[in-house]
This record gives sequence, structure tokens and C-alpha cells, in this order.
Amino acid sequence: MAFAHKSLLGIAQLSTEDILTILSVAETFYEISERRIKKVPTLRGKTVVNLFMEPSTRTRASFEIAEKRLSADGINLSPSSSSTKKGETLLDTARNLQAMHPDILVMRHRAAGAPHFLDRHIQAAIINAGDGAHEHPTQALLDAFTIRRQGMPFGRLNVAIIGDIAHSRVARSNILCLTRLGANVRVCGPRTMLQPGLEALGATVCHRLDDALDGVDVAMALRVQLERFGGEALLPNAREYARQFGLNRKRLEHMKPDGLVMHPGPINRGVEMDPEVADGERSVILEQVTSGVAVRMALLYLMAGGSPDSVVKES
Ligand code: CP
Repeated sequence: MAFAHKSLLGIAQLSTEDILTILSVAETFYEISERRIKKVPTLRGKTVVNLFMEPSTRTRASFEIAEKRLSADGINLSPSSSSTKKGETLLDTARNLQAMHPDILVMRHRAAGAPHFLDRHIQAAIINAGDGAHEHPTQALLDAFTIRRQGMPFGRLNVAIIGDIAHSRVARSNILCLTRLGANVRVCGPRTMLQPGLEALGATVCHRLDDALDGVDVAMALRVQLERFGGEALLPNAREYARQFGLNRKRLEHMKPDGLVMHPGPINRGVEMDPEVADGERSVILEQVTSGVAVRMALLYLMAGGSPDSVVKES
């Protein structure tokens, strides 16, 4: 079955079958990044615009690498290199980009709903690369892909998502994605960082970290997003946060012995987790980054009209 969506705006729009299709196509693309020549002609002639209106290291580099490995023509725009700096509206920027007939627009924006807004006004497919505190669907897909590659079945999976849940698009997308795949998801963080409605999304709320970690397969720590606090004092200080919610070697003993540690990055070392946890044997943080390229190659391929049943990836 072909991918049935014009754009990828959030996990909320995806069925379980959609998610499994993306993960399975990503599996077929994964080995391209391990080849000596990491390039296939699959998206030759397709144009992708990467419009990143907020800082990014992993997502932006990952999309750019995915586009290059698929032979798409990718161009990059950021606030400093675009005419938004001269006062052009987002819609005018997008309409002007549309006039050059791109096939896909990958977009990160600080405003929740910005990709949804553009999707109503332009013909190019849009991939949401993170919109405010709303969704970061490709992060959730690459996290699910990473977990699956570790051989953990979603139906028996227990995951704890820890930290600044309220300001995290990663948390929202992961709760939606992992519960849709059949996993049990707990969330844990300071009360000021746990918004109402988490149970309705499918998560169980824990207030003590040791309870959240008890017997879990995956501990996913989130970055404390000081830039989204809007001047509110939601945290006493970083040291107190680390004491109550930071992952350290002792705390990991509450997890299953083979449990995984994940983090979407960038990490505040010593706040969300100790360096020995970030770099330790349970950490799959860099595997998440590797997975991101394969997942984004799969999405670009599917959204450009590729068939999941006959993936073209020969050089
Ligand atoms: N995980 C993630 O979105 O990282 P970047 O902000 O560096 O893209």
C-alpha cells in the first residue's frame, strides 16, 4: 500500500500500519549508510527545501544527508539566510518557494501549527521537523526504529519518558507513536513540567523517578528546554533537577537489566543524565542519530511517491 498522506505533520495523523510501513522501508534503506559509496539514484530529479527557522544539529544534518544519499536536490534556508529577516511573512516565503516547484518542504518552526498552516496553502508535501512544543514526528519514528532494531517487541515494551514533558514535542510524538505500536508509556518530571491531559494521550503519570523506572525497557530522558519557559520559574535550579530527575548509574538499577537509555539530544550533561550514563553501555543515543538518516530516507522516498513494496535503492 502506498503512503496515503500528502504531508507528515504529526504522528497523530498516522495509523499503526503507516508507522510500521515507514519503519520497514527505513530498514531497507539502513544499509546504504554502511556502503562505501553512500548514494543511490532513487530521488534523482526531486527537489527538497529544508526550511529551518529554529536551531538544529541532528534533524537538519540528518535530512540533508538523507537527501544527498537519495540523490535529491536539497536546498537549505535558515532565518539568517532567508528574507524573513527583512520582514517577509512565513506564508510569503512559502509561496515564493512553492513558485519554484519543490517536491517536499522540510520545516522546523518555533510556532506550533506552522507546518499545518503552510500545508493548507502550498502544493509541496511538508514534513514537520519540529513545531514549537507540538510534535516532532520524525524523532518519534527514529526512536521507534532504534528500539525495534534492538530486538524489543513493542507489544511488551515499557517506556519511561522523563523530564520537561510539557514543553517537549518529542514527548508528545513519542507518546502517540509508542502507544499506537502497543507499548506502555510512563511520563515523569517536575509537576510544573507535566501538563494536564497526558493520560488522555495514553501515558501513565509518575511523580517519582524510581517509580517511573521500575522494570522499564527504555528510559528516554528529555532536554530541559529553558528557551520555552517564557520567563516562568518552573525549576528551582539545574542541580535540584538532576538530584530528582537526572539519570545516574544507581537509578538505572530500577530498570530491566538490559534496558536502554535514550535521549533525542542535545544533552545537558550532568542535568538530564550523568556523562557515564550518556556514554555507558545501555546508551543508544548515537544509534538514534544513525537511525534518523534511514528513517528520513524512508519518509522522503514514500512522500515522493515511492512504493513500500518495491523500494528502489540500487546504485
Ligand atoms: N533531536 C533533535 O531534534 O535535535 P536537533 O534540535 O539538533 O535537530
